[in-house]
Amino acid sequence: MKILTISTRPFSDQRPGTSGLRKKVRIFRTPHYLENFVQSIFDTRTDLSGGTLVLGGDGRYYNRQAIQTIICMAAANGVARVIVGQSGLLSTPAASCVIRKYHTNGGIILSASHNPGGPDGDFGIKFNTANGGPAPEGVTGAIYARTREISQYRTLAADEIDLDTIGTQSLGETRVEIIDAVADYAALMEELFDFERIRQLFGSGQFSMRFDAMHAITGPYAKLILETMLGAEPGTVINGDPSEDFGGGHPDPNLVHAHELVALASGPDAVDFAAASDGDGDRNMILGRNFFVTPSDSLAVMAANARHIKGYAGGLSGVARSMPTSQAVDRVAEALGLDCYETPTGWKFFGNLLDAGRITLCGEESFGSGSDHVREKDGLWAVLFWLNLLAVRNRSVQEIVQEHWRKFGRNFYTRHDYEGIDAEAASDLMAHLETLLADLPGTTLDGHTVGYADNFAYTDPVDGSVSENQGIRIGFTDGSRIVYRLSGTGTEGATLRVYLEACETDPGKQDRETAGVMQPLVGIATRMAEIESRTGRREPTVIT
Ligand code: G1P
Ligand code: ZN
Repeated sequence: MKILTISTRPFSDQRPGTSGLRKKVRIFRTPHYLENFVQSIFDTRTDLSGGTLVLGGDGRYYNRQAIQTIICMAAANGVARVIVGQSGLLSTPAASCVIRKYHTNGGIILSASHNPGGPDGDFGIKFNTANGGPAPEGVTGAIYARTREISQYRTLAADEIDLDTIGTQSLGETRVEIIDAVADYAALMEELFDFERIRQLFGSGQFSMRFDAMHAITGPYAKLILETMLGAEPGTVINGDPSEDFGGGHPDPNLVHAHELVALASGPDAVDFAAASDGDGDRNMILGRNFFVTPSDSLAVMAANARHIKGYAGGLSGVARSMPTSQAVDRVAEALGLDCYETPTGWKFFGNLLDAGRITLCGEESFGSGSDHVREKDGLWAVLFWLNLLAVRNRSVQEIVQEHWRKFGRNFYTRHDYEGIDAEAASDLMAHLETLLADLPGTTLDGHTVGYADNFAYTDPVDGSVSENQGIRIGFTDGSRIVYRLSGTGTEGATLRVYLEACETDPGKQDRETAGVMQPLVGIATRMAEIESRTGRREPTVIT
């Protein structure tokens, strides 16, 4: 097998964002673009030479081609063993599971998560370390630095690998193992949850569910686990066949994009439980009959009920949430005497806390939750957690959540996204907010007194690393909050996210509509940031 050394020049735009390098497919197809980034991984992660690499993606357009390219480069860079999900597929949490289970040196995951796919859509690549988690900033920084100076990459002149047949092939000295993409993950779920109880729930004839795989990666996982292993009726999984462009849709499980599912969970014939996952299977949305569970509440409910679930019955070591996520879980932690950490946005910040055994559960407002079972957020895991809970508590989703509010208080929550705004206007807006911070504490805005105002910085309690500039926080003395940050995952212009939260401990006021409750805070937030005059937008693009 002939190793080829190809000359190349650096691209200036390969800095990984919140979750790896994400760009339009056409950019990834620029000659040498993908190869430069991959070689930069091999150049900086030197233990991959002679080691084991896991490889898989969410199946979007360009996935198969990129997998072939990376396998050849892995072989040319001396990787001893490449473990690849069948057909080049692995959901992000399944990749994390496989990286950990087989004690590998890490993995490359091809995904642009919930961003649309297809020739005009997005593509992405990220490296996960041996703990199964997204590379921390030190690692992504080194990879990025390497992309700025790269002058050559190594690959092989070889025939294509057969990605569809399970088994081992060799490519020069390298063993390429094509594995079942679902089996290891399904086995892990069976360890954590009481499958027998859930089977009884489905078998009772009293319970109906739909899971929307949004034409993305979780289709095969959900069909096997829900329909085959747990006995849910055939057809429980909708949009279950993965397609390269997600059926032309936007595979993001929220009230806007998962509208087909929302319709099935609404009205007099609504199902009892509905859930969806995103392009690469790490996000989740939970719905009851005519009832939406905010991701922040979902995390809090899981923490409060973990003792009912087999895999967590021994207790939680602590919990964590990303900074913009509502403080609902903080209330649970306080009541249960658990440590609670506030981290910057992005799953990579949970990694050290999970590895150090300081937390068991964690989550983000952006439809992500997970635990120490892997080092990624995990969509189907959250769905199974809820199913298990419904099976043991014998209550509806709505009853469980409302009971939770009565006990712990309710954190009303909403997020307003302004997508595709001018990048310069966005950074000016953030700079403007920054100038207001010093004078805000102690002032009263529409009856809310500001307790603190800052640009969030985080010191990792495990390794002491500091991450600054993680978003503007304005906290009021009544517990409500406004948070502003710019997205780190978009591929066009800038996206401003405004996160709003208001606390309510009076049970008589907890069942009001979120939009009405949040209106005053929305007003404060839009005026303070001068959103309309600075971005030209009167309304957000998406409200979740
Ligand atoms: C978004 C979410 C963030 C999540 C990330 C990856 O990042 O806000 O919570 O970890 O996607 O799924 P953002 O675009 O806000 O940087
Ligand atoms: Zn995702």
